[in-house]
Amino acid sequence: MSLSDAWEREANAWIKWARAPGHDSYWRFHRDQFLAIVPPPGRLTLDLGCGEGRLSRDLQARGHRVIGIDASPALIGAARVADPAGDYRCADACKLPLSDGDCDLVIAFMSLQDVDDLPGATAEISRVLEPGGRACIAIVHPLNSSGRFVDESATSPFVIRGTYLSESEYTDFVARDGIEMTFRSRHRPLETYSLALEAAGLCIDAIREHPVPSGPTELSDRSKRWQRIPLFMHLRVRKCGAP
Ligand SMILES: C[S@@+](CC[C@H](N)C(=O)[O-])C[C@H]1O[C@@H](n2cnc3c(N)ncnc32)[C@H](O)[C@@H]1O
Repeated sequence: MSLSDAWEREANAWIKWARAPGHDSYWRFHRDQFLAIVPPPGRLTLDLGCGEGRLSRDLQARGHRVIGIDASPALIGAARVADPAGDYRCADACKLPLSDGDCDLVIAFMSLQDVDDLPGATAEISRVLEPGGRACIAIVHPLNSSGRFVDESATSPFVIRGTYLSESEYTDFVARDGIEMTFRSRHRPLETYSLALEAAGLCIDAIREHPVPSGPTELSDRSKRWQRIPLFMHLRVRKCGAP
């Protein structure tokens, strides 16, 4: 099964997971960490792999004119119901229904570790960007996806049983507060992302590595582990032309 088929199969679980108030890291810290590297609204923002549309709605609330695209018909249907005036289209990241240079900004928030064809997706991001246009990308940090903590203590060792350096598919079943979700994604080393961006003529201008931030309340030991290893990586890239 392709990763995009796996997302269509998990669509209902994802809608529950993504929309439960305060449940996902998105609401607790991840959205705000990410928005810190997003340029101000311009001509047209593409939200690539928009899912049920939470970030598209948040970007619109901040003044962006947004087109949301996702490969999952069920998630695009849910995005349209939540935002009937919005523009949501079902398409693959490797075949975007947009013309060359249509966008000044592409957002790919937590979607590129889930696409089957990374170079195909980055080539399309570059094609639909105007010269000098930017893309802001959030992914599961490649260190995170390469291994596991061995236990739930704050000082748990983090072990890479396979290899960081090659690609592999992984499945994470997560159950929390009565909501269950199975994530199927692809581990890719940082160099694989860099090669795909380089080939597409996208130059990196910012990288951020995000742990779980400290907050007003004491973190659980389980969460404290994620203050030693980054959960997510954010990148901002600029269309620079052919390498
Ligand atoms: C972790 S979800 C993130 C959704 C959304 N960005 C959010 O944060 O709420 C990953 C998304 O990538 C989408 N996706 C996976 N492969 C895709 C592809 N080839 N083309 C377009 N979207 C894809 C999935 O359908 C899913 O909605």
